[in-house]
Amino acid sequence: MFFPSVRMRRLRSCSAIRALVRETVLTPDDFVQPLFICSGKNVKQQIESMPAIFRLSIDLAVKECLKIRNAGIKSIILFGIPEKKDETGEVGCREDGIIQQAIRAIKKEIPDIYIITDVCNCEYTTHGHCGLLVDGVVDNDKTLQLLGRQALSHAMAGVDMVAPSDMMDGRVGYIRDTLDSNGYHDIPIMSYAVKYASSFYGPFREAAQSVPGFGDRKGYQMDYSNSREGIREAFLDIDEGADIIMVKPAMSYLDIVLKIKENSDVPVAAYNVSGEYSMVKAANEKGWIDGQKVMMEILTSIKRAGADIIISYHSVDAVSLLAKGWY
Ligand code: PBG
Repeated sequence: MFFPSVRMRRLRSCSAIRALVRETVLTPDDFVQPLFICSGKNVKQQIESMPAIFRLSIDLAVKECLKIRNAGIKSIILFGIPEKKDETGEVGCREDGIIQQAIRAIKKEIPDIYIITDVCNCEYTTHGHCGLLVDGVVDNDKTLQLLGRQALSHAMAGVDMVAPSDMMDGRVGYIRDTLDSNGYHDIPIMSYAVKYASSFYGPFREAAQSVPGFGDRKGYQMDYSNSREGIREAFLDIDEGADIIMVKPAMSYLDIVLKIKENSDVPVAAYNVSGEYSMVKAANEKGWIDGQKVMMEILTSIKRAGADIIISYHSVDAVSLLAKGWY
């Protein structure tokens, strides 16, 4: 009787051997925790569509950062929701803007936490688009000036890294020039280079109150049907000086993460976005899936696909499970 000489099950027979041959394991160093910062004092607003995620005023955000740091996570990415938005996004460039104040306050209390900021206009404009409108259309080149100023104001407040997410052409080069000519050569740029026009951002837009007032973002974010275009985007940004290339969203775009990883030599980040988070939470609440197990499977798959950096609302939960010996 024939028996196979190669038996894949030999290396799966117990947890010890599975641990020895495991190819991908998550570590706390993989993660960046996003935070939403709003104005006021002692404000903690639950975001309806993102269980356990809040809009926090700066004082509470500082406390949250201590928790994040104590959980073993070293990096955060900040999104600002100003008290009052404006037509141009100018409010995002102010020295006393919400993010600029948050950077200073967090750095003062926790100097060793690594602060990344999202650089974009959609959180700051009344119309919710990522750039300056001219005749109802987002004007690429005029938007660059605002982005440059916004990035510079973050640098002046003490940010460690900026992450432009607007998808304007040429913005990485423009921001690099602006930072360099003001003496901030050492601040890296993590470019949201391969950012798709995705319905997975729905809950984020509730969080940041940044639903576009009209139309959609398809005129600047990528068509989800395309993959080679993502490679072009990545290489354009690398040529303009991007230090890290991000793919966003993550789960439905693991093919893109792998492609960028295999075709480039820069670190690759993947953004496990709001809708991906909310789906896990909702199905878990319904008792349809085991939320913790699904979360770890998703995060591991993102790393397995090639992500060096994972930006996720699950970060603190995942790292807590790792500390208990997850695998
Ligand atoms: C800002 C920005 C968005 C996200 C990150 N930066 C929203 C958007 O482009 O509409 C989405 C993040 C998420 O869904 O978690 N441009």
